Amino acid sequence: MSRASAPGKLILFGEHAVVFGEPALATAIDLRTEVFARLHDEWLVDGASLKDTKYAYVRRAVDSSWKGPPLWLEIRSMIPLGCGLGSSAAVTVATLGALAALQGPVDPEAVARAAFEVEHAVQGRASPIDTSTSAHGAAVLVRRAAGDGFLWTIEKGDRRWSLHHASLPGVRLVVGNTGIAAATGPLVAGVKARVDRDPRAAAAVAEIGEITLDGLRALQRRDLVRAGELMDRDHELLNVLGVGHPLLDKFVEAARPHAFGAKLTGAGGGGSMFALTDEPEEVRAAIEAAGGSAFLVETEPRGLEASP
Ligand code: PMV
Repeated sequence: MSRASAPGKLILFGEHAVVFGEPALATAIDLRTEVFARLHDEWLVDGASLKDTKYAYVRRAVDSSWKGPPLWLEIRSMIPLGCGLGSSAAVTVATLGALAALQGPVDPEAVARAAFEVEHAVQGRASPIDTSTSAHGAAVLVRRAAGDGFLWTIEKGDRRWSLHHASLPGVRLVVGNTGIAAATGPLVAGVKARVDRDPRAAAAVAEIGEITLDGLRALQRRDLVRAGELMDRDHELLNVLGVGHPLLDKFVEAARPHAFGAKLTGAGGGGSMFALTDEPEEVRAAIEAAGGSAFLVETEPRGLEASP
């Protein structure tokens, strides 16, 4: 039997714009998904059929990287589903890790590449930020050209992303969850349609790319006030791209009096927001008073871990 685990993630800056090749910054978070795999006489996942649509990522991962006999897979996850915290990336990375561990040594870069292909196939369009952050752990900066901390490059058609390890100071992040699960694929497709017809949306994508690089520099020099301002602006621009939700705006407004900044995270359309704060309890209470569920997350240094 093999076992693998991989973390969820929080996109700090740059979601959606990254799909167009703009920079984005994400951190792995201390909520993990674990997958166990063992040989069995029929395919089973959590005791059910692999054909169930809720296992689309697992099934695609199996199809892409397992040629052997049937397996019994068990998944345990602390990451809430469909709320922008990278549950699909983590289950994909952990599944690929568990399959790889049955076959030999596990290479996080190879798993990150395969996991990107799985997400791309299931979602129809994707960037490698979620899957590479889950595979590597810590914080990951995506940009076009390779620079300090370079990890690997991933390409798709004419788009190219260079993934980097980013050093960030420890920060306090409070996540507020709307409880509304919105599928990433249609949101990503909606942004593409908007960018194709509306120059303001195309300009928003470019500005988000600049914000990401400014935001990284602000975090690295521990200028949380500036980082927070940039988060607030990024949130506005994500609304211009049409991926906001009234509840996200409500939670962001509720958090701001006790936070440096707040924005939606991940695909949007529901899902989650987060705040950068040195008053996490006050922010948590404010989001809960506004009707959300809220919790504190920390950067997770560990990425994919797998053992036979
Ligand atoms: O699926 P989520 O909520 O973790 O968000 C993915 C981030 C996007 O930029 C919206 C899509 C992508 O593939 O980068």
